Amino acid sequence: MLHGFPTAAMVADTNSPHNDPGTRAGACRHRTPATEPAPANQMQFFDHAYEGTPTWDIGRPQGAIARLASSGAIAGPILDVGCGTGENSLYLASLGYEVLGVDLARAAIEKAGAKAAQRTVSGRVDFRLWDALRLDELGATYRTAIDSGLFHCLAPEQRAAYAASLHAVLSPGGRVFILCWSARNPFGLGPERIRKLDIRGSFRSGWSIEAIDEDSLETLLPAGAVHAWLARIRRI
Ligand SMILES: C[S@@+](CC[C@H](N)C(=O)[O-])C[C@H]1O[C@@H](n2cnc3c(N)ncnc32)[C@H](O)[C@@H]1O
Repeated sequence: MLHGFPTAAMVADTNSPHNDPGTRAGACRHRTPATEPAPANQMQFFDHAYEGTPTWDIGRPQGAIARLASSGAIAGPILDVGCGTGENSLYLASLGYEVLGVDLARAAIEKAGAKAAQRTVSGRVDFRLWDALRLDELGATYRTAIDSGLFHCLAPEQRAAYAASLHAVLSPGGRVFILCWSARNPFGLGPERIRKLDIRGSFRSGWSIEAIDEDSLETLLPAGAVHAWLARIRRI
């Protein structure tokens, strides 16, 4: 079973019967205080999605992440935030990096762990059930954080708290790479469209935005890849 993204209308209409927490990715757009952990129904959506194969779970690393690695832009240790079923983490571990993948969907972490048990990687990979808004509580620091598809799931009021959470676990000079749906996608399908200013507004003090480039996110949607931003952001 394929679980797709919600329509924009579903996301916009919070009173819609389609907004049953078990079936919508509109859960990506919760109104929740920025300091609160991710709401339970947001994660019910993802747990439900991972009972099948969500359209973002392509069974291989994202090309953008692979290109970053081959360009030498990534330094270990790496934190893969919202790692899903772990393909990006496992790929980076296969290159010899030490990687921790975290996700708040139990089903995703279980699938990632099962893959890790079956694959031999030259680096080290571990997966943990963890909230991206509470990375400071991990008690570790990383030189790189990758975010493939999480940022666009956060409610706007959660983004600054997410940036602060990332700031707490990246060492000075470390980088976060964010790959997210961009505002260049046609309206009507998918999660929230992110504008460059949404990224700039979330990563203000304590960060230097080095680039926000056009890229693509590969999906299992009929269209295949969708327009994405790849943001390169350095922790000061
Ligand atoms: C679109 S999926 C992308 C998954 C994976 N990075 C990939 O490329 O396949 C977004 C992921 O973010 C996770 N997520 C959403 N909110 C989260 C939070 N507050 N903390 C940790 N993970 C979260 C979801 O469970 C989901 O696995």
